[in-house]
Amino acid sequence: MRALTYHGAHTVKVDTVPDPILMDSDDIILRVTATAICGSDLHLYRGKIPSVEHGDIFGHEFMGIVEETGPAVTAVQPGDRVVIPFVIACGSCFFCQMDLFAACETTNTGRGAILNKKAIPPGAALFGFSHLYGGVPGGQAEYVRVPKANTGPFKVPGTLLDEKVLFLSDILPTAFQAVTNAGIGNGSSIAIYGAGPVGLLSAACARMLGAEQIFMVDHHPYRLAYAQRTYGVIPINFDEDDDPADTIIRQTKGMRGVDGVVDAVGFEAKGSTTETVLATLKLEGSSGKALRQCIAAVRRGGVVSVPGVYAGFIHGFLFGDAFDKGLTFKMGQTHVQRYLPELLGHIETGRLAPEVIISHRMSLEQAAEGYEIFDKKQEDCRKVILTPGDSAIALPEGDGPALVLGT
Ligand SMILES: NC(=O)c1ccc[n+]([C@@H]2O[C@H](COP(=O)([O-])OP(=O)(O)OC[C@H]3O[C@@H](n4cnc5c(N)ncnc54)[C@H](O)[C@@H]3O)[C@@H](O)[C@H]2O)c1
Ligand SMILES: [Zn+2]
Ligand SMILES: [Zn+2]
Repeated sequence: MRALTYHGAHTVKVDTVPDPILMDSDDIILRVTATAICGSDLHLYRGKIPSVEHGDIFGHEFMGIVEETGPAVTAVQPGDRVVIPFVIACGSCFFCQMDLFAACETTNTGRGAILNKKAIPPGAALFGFSHLYGGVPGGQAEYVRVPKANTGPFKVPGTLLDEKVLFLSDILPTAFQAVTNAGIGNGSSIAIYGAGPVGLLSAACARMLGAEQIFMVDHHPYRLAYAQRTYGVIPINFDEDDDPADTIIRQTKGMRGVDGVVDAVGFEAKGSTTETVLATLKLEGSSGKALRQCIAAVRRGGVVSVPGVYAGFIHGFLFGDAFDKGLTFKMGQTHVQRYLPELLGHIETGRLAPEVIISHRMSLEQAAEGYEIFDKKQEDCRKVILTPGDSAIALPEGDGPALVLGT
């Protein structure tokens, strides 16, 4: 089969590789009909995540048709059309029983990413995401083996196009978890750092949940302009404004700051030259730029919600400010499985239309070009989706509104 494989930093290509086969009794083989490139794939692509090996197949946002099932699979059958959560969870361990699927302690054969780990088992295995997370081959491919198929695959109605439901695999639940973790509801104020796919869908979710004021910080004018047009955010370009948190606070009631803030940037945040140098020398794990801004922008008693991926340590972490403000931090990989029925309902009723953020529809054969365009933010790229073989995705007209508010 054809699959997108890694060959060193900034080098990926579509190769012919062996077809996947059933290995465990609760596996399925999925024929992929649509897959997407995620900001998390960019961390791998740039060579920033350890334990990524030459030949690894990337991709953790994908959906398709069940082709084959192992003897213990009861939840789906050949021919079913399903979206696959990027988190591989068993459904029955201590954490899965609490719906903390990303913490599943039975699926990851890798080490996990905690530095000061002690005896703690690693969190869930992830598709196409480094051997720290199990080294499970990903879905930017024609076929993929899906383990734990009685827990993950989520059936979607045939009436909805692939691109309307594809983002249930990751970025829509990630945005939804981020915004609900931030405590956003009717009349809330929120600041979202990062106007990539996760930030954009966080704005969509915040609107749906009734947020009154949504600030968005980035430095790509085209992304900010899109978010302003589509979700009515107040855009702030950090290339022009070196202290967005100050600008945000001055526009909130009583100059208190926003109720909640979402860091949809993560450890590769741009901004601090010192941290960039220290991170390159491996004396610093992550850039704390976005996180410091988040801590500064939020009101006392507010929530800093972090879907952006962080790794290791940050020296410039203003813990004293967080203490003084009495902040809550919520973060981590998304517990995808728990949100899917609710989010599918929102897509079906038109309250969420995540597909509007797609800017590039390409074939799997063009995946390497897709990575480069998305990484370099060329051609006003917001989100790339790929289709293997000649399965075609219908093209909607223009950008359209991402959210149709209910009455
Ligand atoms: N927690 C999860 O389960 C989960 C799931 C999906 C993605 N993610 C993570 O979410 C993050 C965003 O993903 P994406 O797909 O939107 O990626 P992306 O790379 O397209 O977007 C990141 C955006 O942040 C902006 N940015 C950089 N530095 C900034 C700064 N200092 N302040 C404000 N904005 C800044 C960039 O210009 C870019 O537009 C990534 O770290 C990704 O790994 C996490
Ligand atoms: Zn992702
Ligand atoms: Zn589990």
